[in-house]
Amino acid sequence: MILEMKGISKFFGPVKALDDVNFTVGDAEIHGLLGENGAGKSTLMNILGGALQQNEGQIFIDGQLIEDMSIHKSNALGIKFIHQELNLVNDLAVFENLFLGQEIVNRAGLLDRKTMIARSKEVLEKIKVDIDPVEMVDNLEPSRKQLVEIARSFLFESKLIIMDEPTTALTNKEIDILFEIMRSLKAHGISIIFISHKMPELFAICDKYTVLRDGKFIESGYFKDINEQKATNLLVGRSIVDSQLVKEDVRGKVVMQVENLSCKGHFKDISFDLREGEVLAITGLHGDGRGELSEALFGARHVDTGTVTLNGKRLPLGHIRQIMKAGVGMVQRNRKERSIIKDMSILNNLSIAYFIAKHNRFFINKREEAERFNRNQKVTNIRVGNMDDEITSLSGGNQQKVMVSRWLELNSDIYILDNPTQGIDVGAKFEIYKLISELAHRGKSLIIFSSEFPEIYKIADRCLVMYEGHINAELNRDQLTEVNVMYYATGANKEGINGNKIKQPA
Ligand SMILES: Nc1ncnc2c1ncn2[C@@H]1O[C@H](COP(=O)(O)OP(=O)(O)OP(=O)(O)O)[C@@H](O)[C@H]1O
Ligand SMILES: [Mg+2]
Repeated sequence: MILEMKGISKFFGPVKALDDVNFTVGDAEIHGLLGENGAGKSTLMNILGGALQQNEGQIFIDGQLIEDMSIHKSNALGIKFIHQELNLVNDLAVFENLFLGQEIVNRAGLLDRKTMIARSKEVLEKIKVDIDPVEMVDNLEPSRKQLVEIARSFLFESKLIIMDEPTTALTNKEIDILFEIMRSLKAHGISIIFISHKMPELFAICDKYTVLRDGKFIESGYFKDINEQKATNLLVGRSIVDSQLVKEDVRGKVVMQVENLSCKGHFKDISFDLREGEVLAITGLHGDGRGELSEALFGARHVDTGTVTLNGKRLPLGHIRQIMKAGVGMVQRNRKERSIIKDMSILNNLSIAYFIAKHNRFFINKREEAERFNRNQKVTNIRVGNMDDEITSLSGGNQQKVMVSRWLELNSDIYILDNPTQGIDVGAKFEIYKLISELAHRGKSLIIFSSEFPEIYKIADRCLVMYEGHINAELNRDQLTEVNVMYYATGANKEGINGNKIKQPA
């Protein structure tokens, strides 16, 4: 399919989300769409998918002008959209989600469950995803939900697939599988539009690129003709100097002590100290128990044994509100699943933690709330039209910044950040890293759960590497290399089946 979008503009009230954008995708091409948070990527794709109507401009498919694009029309043309926000119904089974809106009925007019389950099985197998079609979606991990969402686009014949940040919830292994599928789709003549903030991914899988900035078309070309630095400069519109943000030695007193924390099936005997002004990274691979540990520290998951003390006082584990009051804040991973309150405004989404932990009056002082908001907006640089709009009107990355700001308001002593830069563009990532080091400079202590080595390297004073639910290594600054992290994250120091250990990297 050859797609041409010409002179597309889109307004949301006073916000000009797209301004005269041209976008062309060729046959059997994987096309990377790049841009900062709020640049207009999802909006452009929503217009192509028929969920939004452009104010100006035209869409041509194989040379033919398509007027009044609707979701239905877009589907009928063979365009499939895998959305940035998961669009699955939790209360339905996997196969019901796959066929949602396009159910198969038998001659009696009843739903043909058997055929739908069989076809679901086929498609899941084809893309090498081991999920039972009758499983309830609610029971699936976010990464698996993402795979169901991807499977949906393979169920029906498509000619162009839009993938809006499909990899943010996936593990590296799942990303490899996805890329394999993408390559085979391309070999079958299908075109793919791929949106991601991760440069290595874009360079690995895409043929061409188009960069948007502030709703405007900036440049199109072949990835083979540019490098990561050039791509970054194009999308940010200036060159950013990437530097390390680590401070001198952290010699503050111990503020938090975790002792022998265990949670059956997830993690075991976790002990570590956290110092004042320290940035401690905790990393590992899928199945390392890291996510569950982060929840336990914040009181969102029950533990079987162990204690956590904060400034010598025991934390009431399992009680989020009291833990918040004691001075612990947390940015959870997978914001769309865990932390955003969809029908609430931007302002209320930001204020809710403050409200729960600090507020003791009956009335909300709207002016005070707005003042706090404005202060935060400056710090995290959230791009927003009106703070009373629904949170979902913000671009993905800006929503994430609201989630970070939620905890800044509380002025916590300890910040637990789980995958804090998910969906955040390169420029804004750097802003968040700076914010993290500033907080540390002010004597706050931070625990960053992350699987991105470049991020850990940039900000962490010390790093714990988890493997199968326990801490396999503690690395200080001079031991912090990617090879070292992988060595311990894969458990290579453990005795293998034949009793051999892999030699430790230098
Ligand atoms: N429904 C809406 N109502 C009001 N403004 C909106 C709406 N949808 C998008 N916008 C605004 O349009 C602009 C472009 O947003 P868009 O979601 O397209 O960005 P994006 O490039 O996908 O960013 P991200 O990388 O963060 O996902 C932003 O300023 C956003 O706030
Ligand atoms: Mg987006």
